[in-house]
Amino acid sequence: MLSVLILGISTIVTGAAIEQRDSVPPGYVAAPYYPAPHGGWTPDWTESYRKASLLVSNMTLAEKTNLTTGTGLFMGRCVGNTGSALRVGIPQLCLQDGPLGLRNTDHNTAFPPGITVGATWDKDLMYRRGVAIGEEFRGKGINVHLGPCVGPLGRRPRGGRNWEGFGADPVLQAFGGAATIEGVQSVGVIATIKHFIANEQEQYRMWNIVKPGISSNVDDRTLHELYLWPFAEGIRSGVGSVMIAYNAVNGSACSQNSYLMNSILKDELGFQGFVMSDWLAQISGVPSTLAGLDMSMPGDRNDIPVVFGNSYWMYEFTRSVLNGSVPVDRLNDATTRILAAYFKMGQDQNYPRPNFDTNTQDAEGPLYPGALISPRGIVNEFVDVQANHAEVAREVARDAITLLKNLDSVLPLARNSTLKVFGTDAEKNPDGINSCADQGCNKGTLGMGWGSGSARYPYMDSPIDGFKARGASYQFFNTDSFPSNSNPSANDTAVVFVSADSGENYITVENNPGDRTSSNLNLWHNGDKLIKDIAAKYANVVVVIHTVGPILMEEWHDLPSVKAVVVAHLPGQEAGASLMQVLYGDVSPSGHLPYTLPKSEDDYPESVSLVGYQLGQPQDTFTEGLYVDYRHFHKANVTPRYAFGHGLSYTSFSFSDAAITPVTPLTATPPTRPAKGATPTYSTAVPEASEAYWPANFDRILRYLYSYLEKNDADAAAKIGNSTTKYPYPAGYSNVQKAGPPAGGAQGGNPALFDTAFDISVTVSNTGSRAGKAVAQLYVQFPSASPFDTPILQLRDFSKSAELVPGAKQTLTLRVTRKDLSVWDVVSQNWVIPVVDGDYGIWLGESSDKLNLRCGTASGTCAADQTSPV
Ligand SMILES: *[C@@H]1O[C@H](CO)[C@@H](O)[C@H](O)[C@H]1NC(C)=O
Ligand SMILES: *[C@@H]1O[C@H](CO)[C@@H](O)[C@H](O)[C@H]1NC(C)=O
Ligand SMILES: *[C@@H]1O[C@H](CO)[C@@H](O)[C@H](O)[C@H]1NC(C)=O
Ligand SMILES: *[C@@H]1O[C@H](CO)[C@@H](O)[C@H](O)[C@H]1NC(C)=O
Ligand SMILES: *[C@@H]1O[C@H](CO)[C@@H](O)[C@H](O)[C@H]1NC(C)=O
Ligand SMILES: *[C@@H]1O[C@H](CO)[C@@H](O)[C@H](O)[C@H]1NC(C)=O
Ligand SMILES: *[C@@H]1O[C@H](CO)[C@@H](O)[C@H](O)[C@H]1NC(C)=O
Repeated sequence: MLSVLILGISTIVTGAAIEQRDSVPPGYVAAPYYPAPHGGWTPDWTESYRKASLLVSNMTLAEKTNLTTGTGLFMGRCVGNTGSALRVGIPQLCLQDGPLGLRNTDHNTAFPPGITVGATWDKDLMYRRGVAIGEEFRGKGINVHLGPCVGPLGRRPRGGRNWEGFGADPVLQAFGGAATIEGVQSVGVIATIKHFIANEQEQYRMWNIVKPGISSNVDDRTLHELYLWPFAEGIRSGVGSVMIAYNAVNGSACSQNSYLMNSILKDELGFQGFVMSDWLAQISGVPSTLAGLDMSMPGDRNDIPVVFGNSYWMYEFTRSVLNGSVPVDRLNDATTRILAAYFKMGQDQNYPRPNFDTNTQDAEGPLYPGALISPRGIVNEFVDVQANHAEVAREVARDAITLLKNLDSVLPLARNSTLKVFGTDAEKNPDGINSCADQGCNKGTLGMGWGSGSARYPYMDSPIDGFKARGASYQFFNTDSFPSNSNPSANDTAVVFVSADSGENYITVENNPGDRTSSNLNLWHNGDKLIKDIAAKYANVVVVIHTVGPILMEEWHDLPSVKAVVVAHLPGQEAGASLMQVLYGDVSPSGHLPYTLPKSEDDYPESVSLVGYQLGQPQDTFTEGLYVDYRHFHKANVTPRYAFGHGLSYTSFSFSDAAITPVTPLTATPPTRPAKGATPTYSTAVPEASEAYWPANFDRILRYLYSYLEKNDADAAAKIGNSTTKYPYPAGYSNVQKAGPPAGGAQGGNPALFDTAFDISVTVSNTGSRAGKAVAQLYVQFPSASPFDTPILQLRDFSKSAELVPGAKQTLTLRVTRKDLSVWDVVSQNWVIPVVDGDYGIWLGESSDKLNLRCGTASGTCAADQTSPV
């Protein structure tokens, strides 16, 4: 009864979600683009496609659909488990969260999350963390790593999942994402870049039977120049998988948006891997298939309680091929894409099988916890995959630490400093470091946000552990209210630990449903008051902040006794020693802000505040366009508390001897793209219905998702396929493969976009008295003659030096590509150089507000002591 009722409603709602766009503001359109482009046309994937196509041409209909869909929520050891095709040697594929390392398991490393990685500005470290993550996933027998996360971009400071990505800038996200992908895939694990696209808010993100998911309404240029940029770089790095976001774009759910998947991902960006849905993000069968979705996860429908074991795909996918609604060609392409990624990573060679279970920490348990009756067995083998990964985790945590303020050289601390340490964030959660499922609480040291992108801590090296290990002379007050018994003394240095948390929407923490709706941009647990109370009694106060993103500091930042402010971001398991190395000056801090710190929330454009409840589909219109984070602050001429890229050291650096060398001459548009190469060809005949029949005596697990059909059903579907009954194809539907747009041509787009236009070198010298690492940041200023309204400065490259001793120098090399100097022209649908002979300003320095070296592309010279345009 219940299921019938729900089915009835869902049919209406699903239908509406496909056709209705009427609440979307005028002008925002989700254009059709069909058919789904075949994969396999770039040379770097030819061999993997050859191997995949040999198998696919020998696979039955039910084997092929089996690989495209998960077997159901809680229907296997991993968070996602595809069906298998054992007859041709393909096992079930195991998919597992998340971007900062293994979720829901043991003997793993809880690495610092993306925002911390972004704050290192260290490409090599980004890569090495990726390798370590890949090794842990492989060691647990996982085929597909559900990371990195480059969307949300961080447009919205209160957005719940910004901390999973690398910072509020497309280029920082792009380098972080691409390096992670290259690291993870170097050990044979398929990486998944996510969430595609414009997934900038947690609340209202998902479709349900009464409300469509939020619609991100984004113009074409903004999409290309901000949100798509890191995806393009990830695809250029050969990422095997892309995960579609929950939300809609221009009113059309990403999971069935043909323009996003078919046009942008698979044609323009030349994506050769497979597109998977976010968990339960699929809201239709045939429409999502035609729109280019290749894998449905975890397999279940989102509108019927998952316990009933229903799917839009699996047996329905089989049916839709037999009845002629989905051309078998589309299924062949989806299957080939999945298998090509499998072969590309070498997973056919001795790849380990899963040896852990995401559903339980116990050694034994049900093999299919989602089934009514399940066989039991060994599910956790407790394989230790940590190796020496704690070292790279600690290095990331340490080199991300961002020193914002340091008066009277209060830092580094002297060995004999007497410390009074305050704040519950300084010590482990007293209830247990993993006492909250998916870290859905903010208690004790904040090492990560909450949600599916979290991990269980194998241990937490807390700041207090760090002070202990140092033999520091300290007294700890494990409270967030100022204690009356701390006996302030003139020699004391007070170290205050405060935090701000956020996470994914399915958990609400202290009234924050993922996004920071209640905490605003304030510190949690009355952190502002704690700091002020301490600052009133102590002359030397050091504030240490663990935070997911921007917070407000105005209440206390300028108090005379607040001498130092340190943002330690989210350190993962390595909070203690990493911080001690910086606080005590073993190393100089070398992190830089991966976002702007505002003075007030009013400093942001109104359009980036959270979208509240709206009748019907919530509309989120990106009217600020390109002007997010520092791009907005520059345009509005608002001085932030701390600028994007800011970060102090214990030493000082000078940048000198910059030089610019032209490499590839610019032209108004890039050279013509390479044509698509050949893709596998298969028979287009509809398979025999018998390829879908249940095998005789098959031992079915109740509620498990299978790709078979009853004989009657399969025969009936084939009969429809043979009749004149036609499926109502969407407007603009076609079966004819397209040549692809001029902006495409290879993974990531037209390969000429990535030609180096100019090499830039700069010498960084340590002019202070301690060793330290510098970060050179390169921002591009477009020529004033450009007719395109473009942000004043945009980050395009960066480079971190080695540790330089006092007096030492290093020459860093950076580059700008053709794409870096282009704008997306919505009329010609291509990247264009607005003024070919124009003088682009290439600004170099250690922060977006400390840029004093300028190289000019027209003059070919560089000059020091320039006044930056902001
Ligand atoms: C959304 O609509 C805008 C305005 O018409 C258009 O420029 C853009 O390409 C559309 N984006 C998508 C992904 O459909
Ligand atoms: C697939 O079938 C073809 C033709 O029957 C055969 O030559 C080939 O060996 C088969 N390949 C595999 C991998 O089964
Ligand atoms: C699909 O995968 C399941 C789980 O591995 C398996 O039981 C079933 O036999 C597979 N179906 C086909 C057609 O191979
Ligand atoms: C074919 O099957 C699919 C999946 O059940 C269904 O959505 C579609 O409407 C069917 N097509 C026809 C023509 O009956
Ligand atoms: C710490 O030691 C330094 C010199 O070693 C001394 O100048 C300073 O007074 C000492 N500080 C405290 C608080 O004992
Ligand atoms: C502060 O440190 C100095 C130097 O170690 C010492 O002489 C003095 O007694 C200390 N003052 C207090 C109040 O502890
Ligand atoms: C399809 O129609 C043709 C001709 O009408 C017939 O020969 C064939 O058996 C039919 N196939 C199925 C699966 O119904």
